[in-house]
Amino acid sequence: MEDGRWRTISVKLSKACLIPIAGVQEKLLSHSNPDLLIDTAISHGIKGLLSEDILEQLDVLSRPVEETPQSDDIESTSIEVTELSVEEKSEEVKANIVPILDGTIQTTENDDNIGRVIAPIDPPEIKPASRPHDLPHFSIDGFSMAASDTDVELDIHFDITGKSTTEGKFADILSCFNNRLDKLKKMLVASGRLPNRPIDVIQLHRDKSRYSSNSNTATIVGLVNDVRLSGEKLRFKLEDKTGDIHCILSPPRAMDNLPSAKRRNTIAVAGLMEDDVVGITGFVLPGGGDRFIVEDIHLPPMTRHEKRVAPDNQAVSVAFLSDIHVGSNTFLHAQWEKMVKWFHEDPLAKTIKYLILSGDIVDGVGIYKDQDKELEIVDLYKQYEEMARLTEILPEWVETIILPGNHDAVRPAEPQPSLDKLIQQYFNSATFVGNPCDFSLHGVRTLAYHGVSIMDFVSSIRHVTFSEPEKAMEQMLERRHLAPSWGGKTPLSPEPEDHMVIEEIPDIFVTGHVHSHHCGDYKGTTLIQSSTWQDQTGYMRMLGFQPKPCILTVVNLHSHKTATIPFA
Ligand SMILES: [Fe+2]
Ligand SMILES: [Fe+2]
Repeated sequence: MEDGRWRTISVKLSKACLIPIAGVQEKLLSHSNPDLLIDTAISHGIKGLLSEDILEQLDVLSRPVEETPQSDDIESTSIEVTELSVEEKSEEVKANIVPILDGTIQTTENDDNIGRVIAPIDPPEIKPASRPHDLPHFSIDGFSMAASDTDVELDIHFDITGKSTTEGKFADILSCFNNRLDKLKKMLVASGRLPNRPIDVIQLHRDKSRYSSNSNTATIVGLVNDVRLSGEKLRFKLEDKTGDIHCILSPPRAMDNLPSAKRRNTIAVAGLMEDDVVGITGFVLPGGGDRFIVEDIHLPPMTRHEKRVAPDNQAVSVAFLSDIHVGSNTFLHAQWEKMVKWFHEDPLAKTIKYLILSGDIVDGVGIYKDQDKELEIVDLYKQYEEMARLTEILPEWVETIILPGNHDAVRPAEPQPSLDKLIQQYFNSATFVGNPCDFSLHGVRTLAYHGVSIMDFVSSIRHVTFSEPEKAMEQMLERRHLAPSWGGKTPLSPEPEDHMVIEEIPDIFVTGHVHSHHCGDYKGTTLIQSSTWQDQTGYMRMLGFQPKPCILTVVNLHSHKTATIPFA
């Protein structure tokens, strides 16, 4: 009890910038009204070290006039109070108190009696306690509208479902890459950033004597392949529809501060992905066996983006999760129940109109070796049945939108179509889309992608790691492509049109797959790495990977404010 009382007094002393010295604690604890003494100090502008003497005098000041001690009582304080008015008495007592930390009062003639001057102490800043997992604090202010007050408004711009036309032939692969090159070259040229009008590789070979020094450069746009790092130099081939050429990109000299040197340095440090589309400017090394020396390099444009907003009469919210992995014996049942309860009771949940599940909604069957040993539900259809039950216990105002992932029962090659009709029939009200899916919710452009290609970005771009998958998402935006590398870890379907190109910069870009969590902003786009509902598996333990499960990310479509709610 005594401890608790002193803690309360200490907080007040601290707020009043009073520092108790030895003996004061005991006196304050035994005083009938320590708050009154502190208030008296505040009202008289007394700060700093609080001694027993000052405390006694504060006691005198705090008493009503009729209780003021008689002269005998206060003789020891050398204050003649009995013959003074209340105001004079107050000033007199205050003048005899030496507020050590108050420099303004200390500049008196009687400097010999004054203690040392210490810098004034600012009142302590009261900070709220940190949230679980160090998630940022949020205010409910930006989440004002109830989900039930507006109708669903979902416009799908791209979904491969029912539109896949590839036969998987060489001609389809060629068409896919030519289409990628056309789309991204158009973006590069339209950005106006290339120093010259791009020429074809065949023309560069033909006129190589013309483009043979850094005073007469050529610009070419093509697909990168055969990327190798030799020493500090990045070597690669650049290929367009007319041919290819070996290229050498060296880091700039230390003194070189030109924007082109910075761009070159960025790529020299980070590396390139196989099948990236880039625009390069440089010259053919004379006598160098047709080597193109890269002086400047451009990725497709990713400028700062201005977010679209939902109208204020449709200011509802969207929530994001991924990788539920129902059927796995590491699926987190109790945490799901906790979230369902929260959905039914919390004011923020009342604003959530949409829940996006970005793939791997079940653990699947036969996805990896000995998976059956880690399954709680071994029947694939029963896994989906259970997932349907888990979404149906959410409030009826929540519209669930489901993408497939690499664990789901659809073709693994991306873009993936939506889940089969047979599976969809287990769900009463969910909306099923392909992976990736480009859609608008009340006008807010959202790009949802499961995120398998994050693994290719981790293995190709030096600063991208599994612990910060958002860096891979930034690189996707910078390349305007979700999965550039053919033959890497991401199985790609060679559709005659490359649908993995990011044609419109999204307002919200969401991925999953790596069982991490992130919510942030990159050049005006909200980046969300959706959290999983699966605990650490044996495989992850072996790799030393710690997932970040059970964190719901919520974004308001009007204010674009975000909130992250942990359930584990
Ligand atoms: Fe997953
Ligand atoms: Fe996955």
